[in-house]
Amino acid sequence: MMKNVIAGNWKSNKLMAEALRLMKEIESGLTSEISAEVIIAPPAPYLSAFASEAKGVLQIASQQCSATGSGAFTGEFTAAMLGSCGVKWVIIGHSERREGYGETDNVIRKKLRAALDSGLQVLLCCGEPLEVRESETHFDWVQNQLMHALSGLSNSALESIVIAYEPIWAIGTGKTASAGQAQEMHAFIRNWLSICFDRSTARGCRIIYGGSCKPSNADDLFAQPDVNGGLIGGASLNAADFIAIVTALENR
Ligand code: 13P
Repeated sequence: MMKNVIAGNWKSNKLMAEALRLMKEIESGLTSEISAEVIIAPPAPYLSAFASEAKGVLQIASQQCSATGSGAFTGEFTAAMLGSCGVKWVIIGHSERREGYGETDNVIRKKLRAALDSGLQVLLCCGEPLEVRESETHFDWVQNQLMHALSGLSNSALESIVIAYEPIWAIGTGKTASAGQAQEMHAFIRNWLSICFDRSTARGCRIIYGGSCKPSNADDLFAQPDVNGGLIGGASLNAADFIAIVTALENR
């Protein structure tokens, strides 16, 4: 059965001791009966320690990886290195990396392949900026991002990918997409997947929502049939809020 997915993207927040404390608080609030996959993505310097410390249901994600293999690439870390530290997941294509660090569709395509080749599972982000939403070309925008990233992959490769729809205008702004807007885009993505891959692959693909998701709107978002979970930024930095969001997903 398809498992829902909930991931906390901690971005560049918290020093080591504080971050470990937050992970422990989250862990102690989650029972082993949770059916969803629960993931946290702490800052890169802590990944190895977190992967060793994580107990129970929590899985660890990196917030990115390099597009290259090993070699003379100062400061980069490869997908294989992440796997060797016990990291199971990597976020690829987050809008903050696309916009702030020059990650083009081509770079994202390479990173995605590097991650899959190393056996990592991927949280692949897509989503439109405000001006694109206002010009009503958001479906084309998202389709184009996904086409660049996914074209040429096999149906089975898609099983290792969770698609995260994160409209940029909703990230960190407090302005969430309405449940209807999220559902509409997720259904569009699933339909597009069924055309590019096949219906059963599309049906089995987890599509999660990110952008100002919090305990007060999680129920509505997760009630949508094509919303299979969430990628949570700010609210994942507070254990009680993150646990409440996981609980909302469990109760959907
Ligand atoms: P917020 O939940 O803070 O809006 O961030 C969403 C996000 O960017 C998760 O990757």
